[in-house]
Amino acid sequence: MVPVRKLVNVADLSRDWWDAMYSRCCDIIARPEIYSNSCSGKILASMFYEPSTRTNFSFQAAAQRLGAGVFGFSDPVGTSASKGETLADTIRMTAAYSSTIVIRSPQEGSATASAIFSEVPVINAGDGGHSHPTQTLTDLTTIAQKRGEIGNIRIGLCGDLKHGRTVHSLVEAMEMFPIISFYLISPQELKFPDYVLERMKNQGQTYEETEILADVIPELDVLYMTRIQRERFRDAGEYRRLKDVYVLTKKMLENAKKDMQIMHPLPRVDEISTDVDTDPRAVYFEQARYGMLIRMALLLDFMHLPRIAPVAVYDDPNAADGECTNPACITQSDTYLPKLVSRSGSDRCGYCDKKTTMMLL
Ligand code: NCD
Repeated sequence: MVPVRKLVNVADLSRDWWDAMYSRCCDIIARPEIYSNSCSGKILASMFYEPSTRTNFSFQAAAQRLGAGVFGFSDPVGTSASKGETLADTIRMTAAYSSTIVIRSPQEGSATASAIFSEVPVINAGDGGHSHPTQTLTDLTTIAQKRGEIGNIRIGLCGDLKHGRTVHSLVEAMEMFPIISFYLISPQELKFPDYVLERMKNQGQTYEETEILADVIPELDVLYMTRIQRERFRDAGEYRRLKDVYVLTKKMLENAKKDMQIMHPLPRVDEISTDVDTDPRAVYFEQARYGMLIRMALLLDFMHLPRIAPVAVYDDPNAADGECTNPACITQSDTYLPKLVSRSGSDRCGYCDKKTTMMLL
């Protein structure tokens, strides 16, 4: 099997790769000392164009626990991006100095674009409201550790399903596991984007949409809460109107199953009241630790891969004809990028998966 050299979308993750990575993660949990020098001499480049606590720190901690070094930034102001350098050039340089690159950016498709120009593996640590595949590794690890298996569950996804990249990636990864039913709990304004719902339909995933958390809580094996993503709203008034739409309290848990897991990618704002933290069903802080452990397993796969000169990529003849008009897409600023095919349909942008628009000449 040719080793995978990027994790920029969940589509890069196969069931075989997941199984191997998870079993290595279990071994890391059992025998951490065996791994403490397994990436010595390797270097992780950590490029964070957007705020982060867990993802950034957990990658840095994961690399250091494997004996690797780390360099990078958590604010692009100090980099040549502020002088107008393109993403492609910044990636070429960063790859020259490192063994693996982790990138988080507010621009959707930025990790996909980075992988085109990199000699070393690229990991997406969150691209705008689009996807967040290593949070998905974290979430799968938590479910597997807490329930013994990932399939055969009813999972409620609650909150900002429109802008929440973690839930977009999680439902896609769940395609690999049997018998999962979803309850999609959100106000109308914050429903999943159409490309996510279309993919769920095409894959035959079972889901029910509702606005009322209390109605479905007794059914759930896992409740995955999300934050209303203030930074992705164009209309501040709409954010203020919706920001407190869900607040999970200890009282509401009286109707939940005794062995339900409450998950959250964090940071939490007000959507889980602090009196829930001491409930044994609350696993969100443990979840953050599993994130570091599974990222160690991922880095072990990537750090040792040989450096490979990137091949030139040109416009794919099967890419959508129209232009991407999503203002958050990387193609808006980095206009030199080749057109790629979207996994979500032939009328969509290969970077952000949003529908393209035919331009009138
Ligand atoms: C999430 C993110 O950045 O998308 N956080 C994380 O990576 N753990 C969720 C969020 O910011 O709400």
